[in-house]
Amino acid sequence: MPVDTVLYNTKVYTHGRLIEAGLAVDEGRIFKIAKETNLPPASAKLDLKGNVTLPGLIDSHVHLRNQQLAYKEDFFTGTAAAAAGGITLTIDMPNNKPVTMDSKSLRERMKLAEKRVVVNVAFYSAFPKDLEEVSSIVEEGAVAFKLYMSQEIGGLDVDDDDMLLHAFKDVGKMGAPIAVHAEDREMLENMRRKMEKAGRKDVEAYVKAHPPQAEIKATKRIIQLTKKSSAHLHFCHVSSAVALNAILKAKNTGYPFTCEVTPHHLLMSSEHLKRYGTLALADPPLGNKDDVKALWIALKHGSIDTLASDHAPHTMEEKEVESVWDAEPGIPGLETMLPLLLAQVNDGHLTMADLVKLTSEKPAQIFDLRGRGSLNAGNCADIVVVDMNQEYKIDSSRFYSKAKYSPFDSWKVKGKPVKTFVNGQLVMDEGEIVAKPGTGQIVRWES
Ligand code: DOR
Ligand code: ZN
Ligand code: ZN
Repeated sequence: MPVDTVLYNTKVYTHGRLIEAGLAVDEGRIFKIAKETNLPPASAKLDLKGNVTLPGLIDSHVHLRNQQLAYKEDFFTGTAAAAAGGITLTIDMPNNKPVTMDSKSLRERMKLAEKRVVVNVAFYSAFPKDLEEVSSIVEEGAVAFKLYMSQEIGGLDVDDDDMLLHAFKDVGKMGAPIAVHAEDREMLENMRRKMEKAGRKDVEAYVKAHPPQAEIKATKRIIQLTKKSSAHLHFCHVSSAVALNAILKAKNTGYPFTCEVTPHHLLMSSEHLKRYGTLALADPPLGNKDDVKALWIALKHGSIDTLASDHAPHTMEEKEVESVWDAEPGIPGLETMLPLLLAQVNDGHLTMADLVKLTSEKPAQIFDLRGRGSLNAGNCADIVVVDMNQEYKIDSSRFYSKAKYSPFDSWKVKGKPVKTFVNGQLVMDEGEIVAKPGTGQIVRWES
């Protein structure tokens, strides 16, 4: 019996290096990676024209919205954006309407997604009101929990250390990681009040209302608390040098701490925020040049675990407002992350091995996504083919995301995702979405 597909004439990233080989794909999995002459007969053969084949990206920080926020993004547009950006699995954040925070809301979200997604999707849950629900949320299939320290999202009082510790111990027992947005709620509220009182409504006032101290305070507090539990804590979108140092120190103590950086915090600084205004506004806001430098040093030392987009789409109306306090923070990132990172590889700032580790291998490990994150026989055939030589400008008017803007608009990049396969099926070809809604799978926590 022939296998379903053979991909040939490509360089494949496998076992830590690029090799001249082809891939045989069968029933959604990688059957064999070998020299073309050693591959089995196939029903279909696809010439990859010498391009590079990488594991599809796993973006562990994505706001797919849908439901009452479908006017910003829905499961189809969000996952089409992912496919266009070479991302084969997104992990969906819980700050939805309704909030994903118990087995019922999670089940409802999975059911809606199932018929609409074109890439694979896994889900976060916020903490439930009743901690008894933690185990049923994991059994329902959430791969991780999300804690917002900057505002109350979900059922927990973020200021109550005892409750947080109780929750962390419960999640620790289940083995699922906890991702945290570390900014101190009280500090943010006080600073914002101060700025508003002074009549400020500019983006610089917003940055002042999100001082690095808010990230540092929350980071240090949650590190101490986590150490009393057996939970694995994953820091989202690290933005300040001092908070980063606290995390790196905590990682060295041997506790299971990991951390994520976004392309926008890595490639832009507060200077860009001044230039691009609310289009570059995110929580936490872009750091200063020293913060950016510190992130790069840590990245090059191998101390950053993952890169994730924090794709946070809003409408243009929610961005183009008179006062910054009315603006929604967030940057769409699914369609820019891989192009921006490939450009960094082409410029020699990042190795291909680091790119794959940060965007595929490590996210698969941290969120325990078995059979994913690397190209090996037996693994799921989640694949992106990239043309390392294409030079072009980022054009947000062509996004599949409903958020058709980007602070990276018109940035010159070199390196382009040209084909995306999800579970062995071609979903994006030369920028076109060629798969039906429902081609992606819901990926559940496996105990
Ligand atoms: O910039 C952000 N946008 N930060 C968050 O924490 C939330 C997110 C969103 O959902 O828009
Ligand atoms: Zn966040
Ligand atoms: Zn986010």
